[in-house]
Amino acid sequence: MSIIADDNDFKSKNIAEKKKHSVLKCECLENDKNFENCIRPKSFDTYIGQTALKETLKISIAAAKKRELPLDHLLFYGPPGLGKTTLAGVIAEQMGVDIKITSAPALERPRDIIGILMSLKGGEILFIDEIHRLNKVAEEILYPAMEDFFLDMTTGKAQTVKTLRVPLPKFTLIGATTKAGELSGPLRDRFGIIHRLEFYTEDELAQVIKRTAGILNIEISEQGAHAIAKRSRGTPRIANRLVKRVADYALVKHDGRITEDIANKSLDILKIDNYGLDSTDRSLLKLIIEKYDGGPVGIETIAAAIGEDVRTIEDVCEPFLLQAGLLQRTPRGRKVSPATYRHLGYKNIDINEQKSLFY
Ligand SMILES: Nc1ncnc2c1ncn2[C@@H]1O[C@H](COP(=O)(O)OP(=O)(O)O)[C@@H](O)[C@H]1O
Ligand SMILES: [Mg+2]
Repeated sequence: MSIIADDNDFKSKNIAEKKKHSVLKCECLENDKNFENCIRPKSFDTYIGQTALKETLKISIAAAKKRELPLDHLLFYGPPGLGKTTLAGVIAEQMGVDIKITSAPALERPRDIIGILMSLKGGEILFIDEIHRLNKVAEEILYPAMEDFFLDMTTGKAQTVKTLRVPLPKFTLIGATTKAGELSGPLRDRFGIIHRLEFYTEDELAQVIKRTAGILNIEISEQGAHAIAKRSRGTPRIANRLVKRVADYALVKHDGRITEDIANKSLDILKIDNYGLDSTDRSLLKLIIEKYDGGPVGIETIAAAIGEDVRTIEDVCEPFLLQAGLLQRTPRGRKVSPATYRHLGYKNIDINEQKSLFY
């Protein structure tokens, strides 16, 4: 079906033709890293949603600036792709300071964390991603650094061993984690500000999508943006990835513009359903229904059966399925809900079976 209906449309088709070339050449699309950097919001104004969190942060930042002190250490938690790393960058920008970005698995040896702490300048932000994966030794080095801005170092051997207190400049640690529950108590207690990032609403995601399309020079209709937003699992990273896929389809199969119809067609081809579930999510839910009578079943069993690792299931698939009410976590394992049966098109689930899912 052509969406070019009249002269005005024809004119815009010509514009779209020209834009096609800039889309094709857009540096942002050269690789995933460029893409992420191009579209990552740098300020609170372009960082969409998370309104309550932004308001609290703005106040903390203004207070820190008035006191001429660094911001308290911050911990952000929530599922992947909701904007934790992005927010750390926005805060650095707002504070007017540099940010050093690392992640816990890169801080395996004591010298890794000592090195990075000693390289910090006054006021700088240190961002540690996946902070729940920090090992015990690294954590213990971090405690005095966070609390008193000191490094406790030992020198010498046996009887000659000495502890040296090395002062550090005042810095702000921003930790991010998908699993706040796995953070040790003492580490969690050393963060002054702890915040959870929420899934985004359809309207917020539509804004993210329109902004990304604008940066990439892709024409998109309001309905087209909403069609993608509906299937983005409340997650900006997924929304942006889908914009790219849908834009490819629009460019190859049509005139480059994203309309509702084109968005829906290409998302259908990508097998992303109207809840935003992909084939991994569906095979996980179908497995619980078909092989385990709706559950409960242990996560390891599920992982082995669908060929995914436990961490991916827990970190990537589950948070949205839990929030959408399609999966439940119980002490005896995971189980599905009547809504899951309905969503996957199992019509004849009997009422007793439904009840047994809850009691
Ligand atoms: N609030 C937001 N507004 C606009 N885009 C966002 C927002 N949050 C995240 N994004 C986009 O989603 C992508 C993933 O965000 P990121 O900060 O890397 O997530 P996380 O660190 O939580 O896994 C980024 O490329 C960014 O462009
Ligand atoms: Mg991140």
